[in-house]
Amino acid sequence: MKNEIIGLLKKEGKLPDETIEEADIQEFTKLVEELGRSETEYIKASIISKDLNTTYIAKNLYVYHEVSSTNTIAKFLSENGIENGSVIIAEKQNGGKGRSGKTWQSPLGGIWLSIILNQDVDHSKIPLITLATGVAVAKTLEKIGIENAEIKWPNDIMIDGKKVCGILTEAVSKFNTVKNVIIGVGIDVNLNLEELPEELQNETTTIKNELGRKISENQLIKLFLEEFEKISELFNHHDYEMILKEWRKRSYSIGKMVEIRKPYHKNYDGYVIGISREGALVVEKTDGSFEKVMSGECIIKK
Ligand code: BTN
Repeated sequence: MKNEIIGLLKKEGKLPDETIEEADIQEFTKLVEELGRSETEYIKASIISKDLNTTYIAKNLYVYHEVSSTNTIAKFLSENGIENGSVIIAEKQNGGKGRSGKTWQSPLGGIWLSIILNQDVDHSKIPLITLATGVAVAKTLEKIGIENAEIKWPNDIMIDGKKVCGILTEAVSKFNTVKNVIIGVGIDVNLNLEELPEELQNETTTIKNELGRKISENQLIKLFLEEFEKISELFNHHDYEMILKEWRKRSYSIGKMVEIRKPYHKNYDGYVIGISREGALVVEKTDGSFEKVMSGECIIKK
């Protein structure tokens, strides 16, 4: 992580060329923070913050032109004393991270952001944060007139069977206790599908394609942050049932035949009957037994 931070600072001319191995971590933090306050071309902190109706989300907003991954910057800042609810946004990512170690394509025209929660969260509740974030994205899309957004367990937002958004939640732990949670959200807004690798083009859509026109990334970010805060309040008040209720209403996975793939496990097929209180997918296997799936890939079978 430190190398990525040094790389970013060097690229932006904030560090001399020779590597400063011994530089003070506080100095790095200050430089990274400063860089996130400088002027960017497309994503504008001033527009997002204007009339933003939140009490703690994005009160601290950092916007970068290009970073490797907003989750990496968020992790770095969260470990070095950044405020709860801070948000890191990049216009572009050159090392965007997806789930299961995959890369995430992040050219200009998308929303690539990470939210930092510096809260004591039990490990077992982290899947619920991902589900809650999915609900916030779906509600944001509803607000701009996309009524048919659905959530594919655990973290993909789909429109008519095509993916428009992915969520990567990462926990920063110390001595087995979660210290910070980083919620990375990637939304394909105005980018052209041709910019994505060919194998992704058929299974991806963009907000621009769905609406038939471009939409301001800044406005969409603002709407999303407001929705996120609303749902995070449910989480903070332990109203998990409400989050699950909202999730189930928009589920793309329930009622489908799926293949479950988990590292070091044999793949198996089953029918999704629901989602449990912990946020696990409940699958009836073809042999009639039931399985709660907490992690892994869930491939929908046609
Ligand atoms: C997935 O569906 O595989 C998850 C994709 C998550 C992408 C977002 S973009 C902002 C944040 N920074 C990253 O490197 N990844 C997440």
